[in-house]
Amino acid sequence: MRRVYLDEVKPGDKLAWPVYLSSGEVLFEKGRVLTSEDIDRLHEWRVVEVLIEGYDEIEKELERERMLLEVFKEAHKYTVEYSRNVLERLSRNVEVKREEIGKVVLDTIENLSINKDVLLMISAYFKRKDDYLFVHAVNTMTIALAIGGYLGYTEEELEHLGMGALLHDIGLVHLADGNEERKEHPEVGFKIVKNTLSNVHPVVTNIILQHHERKDGSGFPFGLKEGEILKEAMIVGVAEVFDRLTSPRGEGRRGSSFEAMKFILSNTKDKFDPKVVEALMRVMVIYPLGTLIRLNTGEIGRVAASTPNPFRPKVNIMFDKYGRPLEKIVRIDLSEELAYRLYIAEVLDESAYDLDLSQEITA
Ligand SMILES: [Fe+2]
Ligand SMILES: [Fe+2]
Repeated sequence: MRRVYLDEVKPGDKLAWPVYLSSGEVLFEKGRVLTSEDIDRLHEWRVVEVLIEGYDEIEKELERERMLLEVFKEAHKYTVEYSRNVLERLSRNVEVKREEIGKVVLDTIENLSINKDVLLMISAYFKRKDDYLFVHAVNTMTIALAIGGYLGYTEEELEHLGMGALLHDIGLVHLADGNEERKEHPEVGFKIVKNTLSNVHPVVTNIILQHHERKDGSGFPFGLKEGEILKEAMIVGVAEVFDRLTSPRGEGRRGSSFEAMKFILSNTKDKFDPKVVEALMRVMVIYPLGTLIRLNTGEIGRVAASTPNPFRPKVNIMFDKYGRPLEKIVRIDLSEELAYRLYIAEVLDESAYDLDLSQEITA
């Protein structure tokens, strides 16, 4: 709890004590999450100071996330370089040891256990046009592992899932072509891995072979249908579509994570496994991590962390309702009962706001 002058109070602050008017009447109950309208009212009533809850813990959480973001950014760059080396050798049929790939997967599982939200935020925003296939491999693996974790996969199952995800487009690396529509790439990749990687598990090779298969039989190479497609291949299929839609391709701009999520949701009935899509929503949130949003109160911020309610994530507020930057980022947990009056009113276009998270993260 902290005593704060009204000038320092920010939207999202939670009252640790009721605000009384001079008449003794309660203006705001203890626990209320203040909106900018509330703060205006406090000014109107000439309230001088209020007691705010949990201030220091939130500051600490934000600071920890900032540090982790830096650490994970470096780790992600290293993983992409390491994977490039392994994937390039493998694509030329140079023998690669199972452990070399296992190491990348285990490191990612470990980092996801430290802070899933920060790592997934990097996967959603770390994109490169030139190294597309290697960045795509690492991002797909990270998202697939988060989905597998949500679905309760064991460590061994996660290892197979992660290896398959990292290698899913090895056929495209071999063909030196980033075009996912090249229908032969799953079989090309399947053969390479079967012949070149020692002791490879069939789940891994089948992920490579089946990651473009879709429930309604519209996928390739075999047009398999629901029930014939390996669950792990469905997971990688969803994870890789999410990454692909949010990557800059050709001359085009990257699509937003929110658009990618909408696309996947609208195709779930015919193409994807609903349990897998639900898991994607839970880990990436409906308004995916990093999405620039406007609250109903007018404040602008970014989706910062998942909560049990995919519609109500934690958000970092950066601008007040007049568009003025806040001195300090304010964290609001929309899933908290006391924040029930707040909701995400609108998803904003980053480019219109000159706030490009992918540039910040890729730098
Ligand atoms: Fe592919
Ligand atoms: Fe892919």
